[in-house]
Amino acid sequence: MSSRGIVLLGAPGAGKGTQAVLLAEKLGVPHISTGDMLRAAVAAQSPVGLKAKAVMDAGQLVSDEIVIGIAEERLKADDAADGFILDGFPRTLGQAEALDRLLERIGLRIDCCLAITVDTEGIVKRLLKRAEIEGRADDNEATIRERMRVYAVETEPLLGYYAARSLVREVPGMDSVPEVSDAMVAALEAA
Ligand code: AP5
Repeated sequence: MSSRGIVLLGAPGAGKGTQAVLLAEKLGVPHISTGDMLRAAVAAQSPVGLKAKAVMDAGQLVSDEIVIGIAEERLKADDAADGFILDGFPRTLGQAEALDRLLERIGLRIDCCLAITVDTEGIVKRLLKRAEIEGRADDNEATIRERMRVYAVETEPLLGYYAARSLVREVPGMDSVPEVSDAMVAALEAA
Protein backbone atom coordinates (compact mmCIF):
# COMPACT_ATOMS: atom_id res chain seq x y z
CA MET A 1 0.00 0.00 0.00
CA SER A 2 1.59 3.25 -1.04
CA SER A 3 -1.13 5.56 0.36
CA ARG A 4 0.20 6.65 3.72
CA GLY A 5 -1.09 10.20 4.20
CA ILE A 6 -4.68 9.35 5.03
CA VAL A 7 -7.69 11.42 6.08
CA LEU A 8 -10.65 9.53 7.59
CA LEU A 9 -14.04 11.14 7.09
CA GLY A 10 -17.27 9.90 8.63
CA ALA A 11 -20.11 10.94 10.89
CA PRO A 12 -19.82 10.70 14.69
CA GLY A 13 -19.82 7.01 15.59
CA ALA A 14 -18.96 5.88 12.05
CA GLY A 15 -15.97 3.99 13.42
CA LYS A 16 -13.14 6.40 12.56
CA GLY A 17 -11.28 5.87 15.82
CA THR A 18 -11.77 2.08 15.84
CA GLN A 19 -10.58 1.72 12.26
CA ALA A 20 -7.74 4.23 12.61
CA VAL A 21 -6.15 2.16 15.38
CA LEU A 22 -6.23 -1.00 13.21
CA LEU A 23 -4.97 0.77 10.11
CA ALA A 24 -2.20 2.58 11.99
CA GLU A 25 -0.93 -0.78 13.23
CA LYS A 26 -1.04 -2.29 9.73
CA LEU A 27 0.73 0.65 8.08
CA GLY A 28 3.10 1.51 10.93
CA VAL A 29 2.09 5.18 10.89
CA PRO A 30 0.67 7.30 13.74
CA HIS A 31 -3.05 7.66 14.41
CA ILE A 32 -3.73 11.36 14.97
CA SER A 33 -7.11 12.08 16.57
CA THR A 34 -7.95 15.68 17.44
CA GLY A 35 -10.87 14.38 19.55
CA ASP A 36 -8.49 12.25 21.66
CA MET A 37 -6.02 15.14 21.98
CA LEU A 38 -8.78 17.53 23.03
CA ARG A 39 -10.18 15.03 25.58
CA ALA A 40 -6.65 14.67 27.01
CA ALA A 41 -6.41 18.47 27.26
CA VAL A 42 -9.78 18.61 29.04
CA ALA A 43 -8.68 15.88 31.49
CA ALA A 44 -5.41 17.75 32.15
CA GLN A 45 -7.32 21.04 32.58
CA SER A 46 -4.78 22.73 30.31
CA PRO A 47 -5.61 26.18 28.85
CA VAL A 48 -6.80 24.49 25.61
CA GLY A 49 -8.83 21.98 27.61
CA LEU A 50 -10.49 24.68 29.68
CA LYS A 51 -11.54 26.51 26.50
CA ALA A 52 -12.69 23.35 24.71
CA LYS A 53 -14.72 21.54 27.39
CA ALA A 54 -18.07 23.33 27.18
CA VAL A 55 -17.94 23.42 23.38
CA MET A 56 -17.29 19.65 23.17
CA ASP A 57 -19.95 18.84 25.77
CA ALA A 58 -22.47 20.73 23.61
CA GLY A 59 -21.50 18.81 20.46
CA GLN A 60 -20.16 21.94 18.76
CA LEU A 61 -16.81 22.37 17.04
CA VAL A 62 -13.80 23.74 18.88
CA SER A 63 -12.39 26.79 17.06
CA ASP A 64 -10.33 26.22 13.92
CA GLU A 65 -7.49 28.20 15.51
CA ILE A 66 -7.14 25.81 18.47
CA VAL A 67 -7.55 22.63 16.45
CA ILE A 68 -5.20 23.66 13.65
CA GLY A 69 -2.61 24.52 16.33
CA ILE A 70 -2.71 21.11 17.97
CA ALA A 71 -2.82 19.24 14.65
CA GLU A 72 0.14 21.23 13.35
CA GLU A 73 2.25 20.48 16.40
CA ARG A 74 1.47 16.73 16.08
CA LEU A 75 2.07 16.51 12.32
CA LYS A 76 5.47 18.14 12.68
CA ALA A 77 6.67 15.31 14.95
CA ASP A 78 9.22 12.98 13.36
CA ASP A 79 6.97 9.92 13.42
CA ALA A 80 4.51 11.51 10.96
CA ALA A 81 7.17 12.00 8.29
CA ASP A 82 6.44 8.62 6.65
CA GLY A 83 2.69 8.85 6.85
CA PHE A 84 -0.24 9.51 9.19
CA ILE A 85 -3.89 8.73 9.70
CA LEU A 86 -5.97 11.79 10.52
CA ASP A 87 -9.14 10.99 12.50
CA GLY A 88 -11.58 13.86 13.10
CA PHE A 89 -9.38 16.46 11.41
CA PRO A 90 -9.98 18.36 9.18
CA ARG A 91 -13.61 19.04 10.01
CA THR A 92 -14.22 22.38 8.30
CA LEU A 93 -13.18 23.86 4.98
CA GLY A 94 -10.90 26.29 6.86
CA GLN A 95 -9.16 23.36 8.58
CA ALA A 96 -8.77 21.49 5.27
CA GLU A 97 -7.17 24.51 3.61
CA ALA A 98 -4.88 25.12 6.60
CA LEU A 99 -3.89 21.43 6.52
CA ASP A 100 -2.97 21.65 2.84
CA ARG A 101 -0.81 24.73 3.49
CA LEU A 102 0.88 23.03 6.45
CA LEU A 103 1.57 19.78 4.59
CA GLU A 104 3.07 21.70 1.69
CA ARG A 105 5.34 23.61 4.08
CA ILE A 106 6.61 20.45 5.75
CA GLY A 107 6.85 18.36 2.57
CA LEU A 108 4.02 15.90 3.25
CA ARG A 109 0.76 15.23 1.43
CA ILE A 110 -2.63 13.55 1.58
CA ASP A 111 -2.73 10.42 -0.57
CA CYS A 112 -6.23 9.21 0.20
CA CYS A 113 -9.44 10.23 1.94
CA LEU A 114 -11.32 7.19 3.24
CA ALA A 115 -14.98 8.08 3.74
CA ILE A 116 -16.88 5.70 6.04
CA THR A 117 -20.58 5.57 5.08
CA VAL A 118 -23.16 4.72 7.75
CA ASP A 119 -26.87 4.93 8.51
CA THR A 120 -27.82 7.56 11.07
CA GLU A 121 -30.10 5.53 13.35
CA GLY A 122 -27.59 2.66 13.46
CA ILE A 123 -24.85 4.93 14.73
CA VAL A 124 -27.10 6.67 17.25
CA LYS A 125 -27.63 3.18 18.75
CA ARG A 126 -23.86 2.51 18.70
CA LEU A 127 -23.10 5.72 20.54
CA LEU A 128 -25.87 5.21 23.12
CA LYS A 129 -24.35 1.78 23.79
CA ARG A 130 -20.91 3.38 24.23
CA ALA A 131 -22.50 5.90 26.63
CA GLU A 132 -23.49 3.02 28.94
CA ILE A 133 -19.95 1.61 28.88
CA GLU A 134 -17.67 4.66 28.77
CA GLY A 135 -19.85 7.61 29.84
CA ARG A 136 -18.34 10.08 27.35
CA ALA A 137 -19.84 13.50 28.12
CA ASP A 138 -21.07 14.07 24.55
CA ASP A 139 -22.70 10.62 24.13
CA ASN A 140 -26.28 11.49 25.12
CA GLU A 141 -28.99 11.43 22.49
CA ALA A 142 -29.52 15.20 22.13
CA THR A 143 -25.78 15.87 21.81
CA ILE A 144 -25.24 12.92 19.46
CA ARG A 145 -27.91 14.34 17.12
CA GLU A 146 -26.35 17.82 17.37
CA ARG A 147 -22.92 16.34 16.49
CA MET A 148 -24.53 14.72 13.44
CA ARG A 149 -26.16 18.00 12.39
CA VAL A 150 -22.82 19.80 12.74
CA TYR A 151 -21.13 17.04 10.74
CA ALA A 152 -23.64 17.40 7.89
CA VAL A 153 -23.23 21.19 7.73
CA GLU A 154 -19.51 21.65 8.42
CA THR A 155 -17.72 18.42 7.55
CA GLU A 156 -19.63 16.57 4.85
CA PRO A 157 -18.73 19.27 2.27
CA LEU A 158 -15.11 18.12 2.61
CA LEU A 159 -16.07 15.06 0.56
CA GLY A 160 -16.40 17.41 -2.40
CA TYR A 161 -13.16 19.18 -1.49
CA TYR A 162 -11.19 15.92 -1.67
CA ALA A 163 -13.25 14.41 -4.51
CA ALA A 164 -12.16 17.33 -6.68
CA ARG A 165 -8.65 15.86 -6.36
CA SER A 166 -9.90 12.28 -6.89
CA LEU A 167 -8.77 11.31 -3.39
CA VAL A 168 -12.04 9.92 -1.97
CA ARG A 169 -12.67 6.18 -1.50
CA GLU A 170 -15.97 5.24 0.13
CA VAL A 171 -16.08 2.33 2.58
CA PRO A 172 -19.38 0.92 3.94
CA GLY A 173 -19.21 1.22 7.73
CA MET A 174 -22.18 -0.78 9.04
CA ASP A 175 -20.53 -4.22 8.74
CA SER A 176 -18.50 -5.82 11.53
CA VAL A 177 -15.24 -4.15 12.63
CA PRO A 178 -12.99 -6.72 10.82
CA GLU A 179 -15.10 -6.49 7.65
CA VAL A 180 -14.86 -2.70 7.60
CA SER A 181 -11.13 -2.96 8.26
CA ASP A 182 -10.66 -5.33 5.29
CA ALA A 183 -12.70 -2.98 3.09
CA MET A 184 -10.47 -0.08 4.13
CA VAL A 185 -7.31 -1.96 3.25
CA ALA A 186 -8.83 -2.98 -0.11
CA ALA A 187 -9.81 0.64 -0.80
CA LEU A 188 -6.27 1.80 -0.02
CA GLU A 189 -4.76 -0.88 -2.23
CA ALA A 190 -6.96 0.28 -5.09
CA ALA A 191 -6.22 3.98 -4.48
P1 AP5 B 1 -14.27 13.08 18.05
O1 AP5 B 1 -13.63 12.40 19.17
O2 AP5 B 1 -13.57 13.17 16.74
O3 AP5 B 1 -15.73 12.46 17.94
P2 AP5 B 1 -16.69 12.09 16.72
O4 AP5 B 1 -16.32 12.53 15.37
O5 AP5 B 1 -18.03 12.50 17.22
O6 AP5 B 1 -16.46 10.60 16.62
P3 AP5 B 1 -16.59 9.44 17.66
O7 AP5 B 1 -15.33 9.30 18.42
O8 AP5 B 1 -17.86 9.53 18.45
O9 AP5 B 1 -16.83 8.27 16.62
P4 AP5 B 1 -15.86 7.53 15.63
O10 AP5 B 1 -16.29 7.75 14.22
O11 AP5 B 1 -14.41 7.76 15.96
O12 AP5 B 1 -16.27 6.06 16.00
P5 AP5 B 1 -15.63 5.07 17.07
O13 AP5 B 1 -14.59 4.24 16.42
O14 AP5 B 1 -15.28 5.83 18.30
O15 AP5 B 1 -14.64 14.59 18.44
C1 AP5 B 1 -15.30 14.88 19.67
C2 AP5 B 1 -15.48 16.38 19.79
O16 AP5 B 1 -14.19 17.03 19.83
C3 AP5 B 1 -16.21 17.07 18.62
O17 AP5 B 1 -17.62 17.01 18.74
C4 AP5 B 1 -15.66 18.49 18.74
O18 AP5 B 1 -16.27 19.20 19.79
C5 AP5 B 1 -14.20 18.26 19.12
N1 AP5 B 1 -13.33 18.14 17.94
C6 AP5 B 1 -12.58 17.05 17.58
N2 AP5 B 1 -11.92 17.29 16.46
C7 AP5 B 1 -12.25 18.54 16.08
C8 AP5 B 1 -11.91 19.36 14.96
N3 AP5 B 1 -11.08 18.92 14.00
N4 AP5 B 1 -12.44 20.61 14.88
C9 AP5 B 1 -13.25 21.08 15.85
N5 AP5 B 1 -13.64 20.36 16.92
C10 AP5 B 1 -13.14 19.09 17.03
O19 AP5 B 1 -16.89 4.10 17.33
C11 AP5 B 1 -18.04 4.56 18.00
C12 AP5 B 1 -18.63 3.36 18.77
O20 AP5 B 1 -19.08 2.37 17.85
C13 AP5 B 1 -17.62 2.66 19.69
O21 AP5 B 1 -18.28 2.21 20.84
C14 AP5 B 1 -17.13 1.47 18.84
O22 AP5 B 1 -16.72 0.39 19.64
C15 AP5 B 1 -18.38 1.14 18.04
N6 AP5 B 1 -18.08 0.62 16.70
C16 AP5 B 1 -17.14 1.07 15.82
N7 AP5 B 1 -17.19 0.38 14.67
C17 AP5 B 1 -18.20 -0.54 14.82
C18 AP5 B 1 -18.74 -1.53 13.95
N8 AP5 B 1 -18.26 -1.73 12.71
N9 AP5 B 1 -19.77 -2.26 14.41
C19 AP5 B 1 -20.27 -2.06 15.67
N10 AP5 B 1 -19.80 -1.14 16.53
C20 AP5 B 1 -18.76 -0.38 16.11
